[in-house]
Amino acid sequence: MKFFIATDHAGVAIKPNVIKILEEMNHTVIDLGPQNNSRVDYPDFAHKLSLEVLANEGTQGILICGTGIGMSLAANKHKGIRAALCHDAYTAIMAKAHNDANVLCFGERVVGLGVVESILEGWCKTNFEGGRHTQRVEKIEI
Ligand code: RB5
Repeated sequence: MKFFIATDHAGVAIKPNVIKILEEMNHTVIDLGPQNNSRVDYPDFAHKLSLEVLANEGTQGILICGTGIGMSLAANKHKGIRAALCHDAYTAIMAKAHNDANVLCFGERVVGLGVVESILEGWCKTNFEGGRHTQRVEKIEI
């Protein structure tokens, strides 16, 4: 799978670990920044990543800020982006299985590396179930 990843200053520290975990699972990860912990505005990176995911069919995104909330709010402004704020493996699995989420958001200040690893495993191993969930996902767009 091909992922884009972006953070703000409150999510940048954990980014190398996330990239390493995904690459060890044989996924491709494109880092959209930032590359240091200078203060930035999370919507700038949420919008940058969302446009890349929409422009590259089949790709997925990972957005990290302090809580994951701002990133998910901004990414979900894009038609076609289904950004899910997940802070455990169960929500990550369900976000894929039932909501066909294409962007994973979490907060660096909320979860530790062990939980992040289980979130990523759950996310990557799970596919959209389709069926009764298809029309529900279609109804998200207004
Ligand atoms: C930055 O201090 C913080 O507000 C941001 O990372 C994020 O948590 C916003 O939702």
